[in-house]
Amino acid sequence: MKIAVIGAGLMGSGITQQCAQAGFSTVNIDAFAAAQEKAKATLAALFERKVAKGRLTTEEADAILSRISYSTDYAAAGEADIVIEAVPEKIDLKKAVFKQLDAVCKAEALLLSNTSGLSISEIGSVTKRPQQVMGTHFFYPAPVMKLVELIRGLATSDEVYTQAKAFMHSLGKTTVDAPEYPGFIVNRILVPMQNEAAYMVMEGCSPEDVDTAMKLGTNMPMGPCELTDFVGIDVMLATMTGLYEGFHDSKYRPCPLLERMVKAGRLGRKSGQGFYTYK
Ligand code: 3HC
Repeated sequence: MKIAVIGAGLMGSGITQQCAQAGFSTVNIDAFAAAQEKAKATLAALFERKVAKGRLTTEEADAILSRISYSTDYAAAGEADIVIEAVPEKIDLKKAVFKQLDAVCKAEALLLSNTSGLSISEIGSVTKRPQQVMGTHFFYPAPVMKLVELIRGLATSDEVYTQAKAFMHSLGKTTVDAPEYPGFIVNRILVPMQNEAAYMVMEGCSPEDVDTAMKLGTNMPMGPCELTDFVGIDVMLATMTGLYEGFHDSKYRPCPLLERMVKAGRLGRKSGQGFYTYK
């Protein structure tokens, strides 16, 4: 079985790694070769650390890497049996990607979107095969986090749902069925909590105190500010904005501090500055 992953950002590169680790020949497609170069370097460094820690042999690392290829051309998805789109969370961008996939993919290919909250029905509607389109939402870091949310659009067929679920299980993931409403299950609960943490920082609480309180008070592995930096402040803000616009409910209004930070280019770990400073 051949896999194509669209997007070489944090999620796309993690999903590519996960598919190759599970033994699948995987092509990563991104219009920007520079993003792929960065993803390649990050993966090489991650595997070096795993080999040094004795978690992986050099031969295993080489075998996984040999199953990954990179292309900047969507035509490379033509061979794929399963395509997983993981481009930034913007509906117009996702629709443009699915239109291109519709033009090049095999008729029977599964077209999966790693959206974290956008409508699968809307994404599928731009293709001539909305029954083949489904949501499979991974969590960051994709190779580590065990959950994948399965989201069916109005047109997704039973067969596609069953095949996508079986494929996620073959990647070693646990799946849950999530409703096709903004945020699905996890982000609808998690992201408003991160947003509330940002409000507390805006009101004068320190990120350290917010994170210590939540880590020691609820056993979270990372506090909400640390987690927002980890996932990307822009990504988290886009998800919160999706909840706000999707439910038309003021209870989801994004914290203005997050908007200021994104405008200033403080995107969290990836930019070196978020709630915390990174070297
Ligand atoms: N990519 C791939 N693997 C990674 C990784 C990354 N970015 N970061 C860490 N890992 C791997 C390490 O290689 C290590 O593997 P090994 O045990 O085989 O060596 C393993 O994860 C554990 O890493 P560390 O020992 O360095 O660190 P920790 O034990 O502190 O765990 C963590 C790191 C798993 C990230 C943990 O802090 C955690 O679970 N944090 C919370 C993550 C979370 O909540 N994610 C969900 C975010 S919300 C989301 O994704 C929604 C979406 O829509 C944006």
